[in-house]
Amino acid sequence: MLELPILTQTFERDTIIELSSPAIPERKLYVETYGCQMNVNDSEIVMGVMNKSGYTITNKPDDADVILLNTCAVRDNAEKKIHERLDHLKYYKKRNRDLVVGVLGCMAERLRGDLLEKKLVDVVVGPDEYRSVPELISRAFTGEKGIAVKLSRVETYDDILPLRTDGIAAWVSIMRGCDKFCTFCVVPFTRGRERSRALSSVVDELKILRDSGFKETTLLGQNVNSYRDEQSSKDFADLLAACARAVPEMRIRYTTSHPQDMSDKLIETQAEFENICNYIHLPVQSGSNRILKLMNRTYTIEHYLERINTIRELIPNCAITTDIIVGFPTETDADNTATMELMREVQYDGAYMYNYSPREKTKAWKMGDDVPNEVKTERLSAIIEQQRIISGELNQKTLGTIEKVLVEGASKKNQTEWQGRTDSNKIVIFPHNEHGGYIVGDVISVKINRANSATLFGDIVE
Ligand code: SAM
Ligand code: SF4
Ligand code: F3S
Repeated sequence: MLELPILTQTFERDTIIELSSPAIPERKLYVETYGCQMNVNDSEIVMGVMNKSGYTITNKPDDADVILLNTCAVRDNAEKKIHERLDHLKYYKKRNRDLVVGVLGCMAERLRGDLLEKKLVDVVVGPDEYRSVPELISRAFTGEKGIAVKLSRVETYDDILPLRTDGIAAWVSIMRGCDKFCTFCVVPFTRGRERSRALSSVVDELKILRDSGFKETTLLGQNVNSYRDEQSSKDFADLLAACARAVPEMRIRYTTSHPQDMSDKLIETQAEFENICNYIHLPVQSGSNRILKLMNRTYTIEHYLERINTIRELIPNCAITTDIIVGFPTETDADNTATMELMREVQYDGAYMYNYSPREKTKAWKMGDDVPNEVKTERLSAIIEQQRIISGELNQKTLGTIEKVLVEGASKKNQTEWQGRTDSNKIVIFPHNEHGGYIVGDVISVKINRANSATLFGDIVE
């Protein structure tokens, strides 16, 4: 059964959560999150655990008694950023000598005790040990450094309700870990083996979210479509259908799906339910079968394209996005051309594109890193530019259409305008209008009158 955190009020970004009955002298926690959405949800889990142990949450590191960085290790750049941030945190520690600093997440799992060698770091906790955070931190207040980095085959934090700060769109992890072992990827080492939550517990959490006013949920996992509830033998399509039925008034999304596990049943289920969004993130990584084999991606381009065709057939308006790595070991110009051709053929609505970054322990690490940085960067710029044009052209096609938009809040660039999202996950900006009366969380109709490669613009229509 899920537990509700002991909050007396919901909170906005600048406020501090008040506890009804603090168990220990009130201490304030500040959490900074890096990496993927799973880390966002993990930070909410940690805040849930800490809140229950009597900590209040602040969004001001200056106010904090405890600063936790929830980190990512997927590329070298991600780790560099954390090292820089840790250097910066020294200033906070100078001002408050009792400050406790912790490193959580994938980099904590990868670097383990090495991180404790930094004088600044008091606590290191891996992704499967978040229940131990309050204990380790209370010991750190007495001067004892602590580490917990054991990976688990069963931990899913099923019984912990994450402490969410958004209020409209929630992230819900349905499984943890990864068994795919793509040769470039550190995730199987930092997050351990795959394990899934019980279907009933996910559905219960969605009902709680609906009852608390949330309008959208994204089901999360490194491979959501290899989800399996062992007890009831239900797969991801079954879970998606159960969620869609349980909370028909909520929008439901999921990420990330693996092309190998993108079954007809899953696509049919997505097509069947109105409240499952027409959006699929299906990382391809490369357009070359030779490179896919070296990456151990376990599918061919022919299989991938066949899956795309089935999606297009069954969900005609489905937006599709992807991930691409350029400069994987031995990648030639011809391999890169194949990737560019594939991207033109699929016509992705968007893509996350990266230079290959060698990661210790992975199989690809031993293949060397033979594509020079200048070549990687040249290839990356070319695919980014091509994708910008494709996204722009696809977005132009929405001109004149009326989109159902979930209002998320004020536009980040202009506070007098709203920002929302279409079912297909595109950001829409629109001005307040004379009809007024709309609030965050409403789904409204917006006629699109302008678009660029990243954003749609329009006006509210009655
Ligand atoms: N599970 C997802 C999948 O299989 O597509 C991906 C999760 S991974 C955290 C997100 C993306 O990071 C990957 O799709 C890949 O494009 C990128 N990535 C992972 N390892 C990388 C590496 N060593 N260098 C560059 N990009 C990498
Ligand atoms: Fe990494 Fe591959 Fe697992 Fe995705 S499927 S998390 S890329 S090992
Ligand atoms: Fe990074 Fe770990 Fe997510 S390596 S991308 S935070 S699973």
